[in-house]
Amino acid sequence: MKPAVLVTKRIFPEAVELLRRHAEVDYVDSDDGLSPEELEARSRGKQGIVSQLTDKFTAERIERLEGVRVIANVAVGFDNVDLAAATRQGILVTNTPDVLTDTTADLTFALLLAAARRIVEAHRFVHSGKWRRWTIDLLAGRDVHHKTLGIFGMGRIGQAVARRAAGFSMRVLYHDARRAPEALERELSLEFTDKLGLLRESDFVTLHVPLNDSTRKLIGAAELREMKPSAILVNTSRGPVIDEAALAQALADRVIAAAGLDVFESEPHVHPLLLELENVVLAPHIGSASIDTRRKMSLLAAENALAALAGRRPPNLLNPEAISQ
Ligand code: GLV
Repeated sequence: MKPAVLVTKRIFPEAVELLRRHAEVDYVDSDDGLSPEELEARSRGKQGIVSQLTDKFTAERIERLEGVRVIANVAVGFDNVDLAAATRQGILVTNTPDVLTDTTADLTFALLLAAARRIVEAHRFVHSGKWRRWTIDLLAGRDVHHKTLGIFGMGRIGQAVARRAAGFSMRVLYHDARRAPEALERELSLEFTDKLGLLRESDFVTLHVPLNDSTRKLIGAAELREMKPSAILVNTSRGPVIDEAALAQALADRVIAAAGLDVFESEPHVHPLLLELENVVLAPHIGSASIDTRRKMSLLAAENALAALAGRRPPNLLNPEAISQ
């Protein structure tokens, strides 16, 4: 008998076709997502779930997932799934790393450049017919080239951002709970520093850490005060890594110069003050949103789910300890 798989929300059709070749698929072909109650009800009788970052699998909910063997998240981040609870239940959890690394690094640089060179303000200015003449400091922004970039989190995406920074002749500082191997530091000309040093010395600070208890509110009012008044903060990781209210106030008070944000504390809600400011560039969590990459992520999640259901080790298993549960 084919295993039963719930797909909680619309994904790329190739991935649904792949799943259908090997499983009975309950496909929620909609962008609305399921309410917590619906998610629980539709999960009953399923062995696999292909989920998205908007599906919250709390410990309580996971404990009620009888018979589910795998949760395959269509994202590299997995803070929406209580991994420890899943492991206790013997549920394998997978994510979709690698395929989105460069795409997310590209978006990071897009936000960094847009904030530094005031691209969104410039677009609005031209679009609204305000452009009458060329002046010496019209929409003058800040240089990116030869400046110092501070990267929190030197994982796959942090490294991809550092590679791009080299093309802009930037000095790259980084901080991570674990120092990178010397060979990588040498290859990417990385300078390891402590948190305070990174905040104080960087012209641009970009966040590439996973969301967990040690990174929640990594950047708050105190950290923002340590940054240069000319500094620009970019976040394409997870919203709660920044204290959003503190950042909005700091941008309004010009404690730092600008920000580029793709993620927010309570998506899709955005702090109302951020919506009023000129010195912030906002995007609706599109870090990995190129057509090719989102297709690859959909397929990878399907492959992860099918591997687990066939008794194979999924390529992107996050909790191998769950296998022996
Ligand atoms: C998107 O935010 C992801 O984690 O893949």
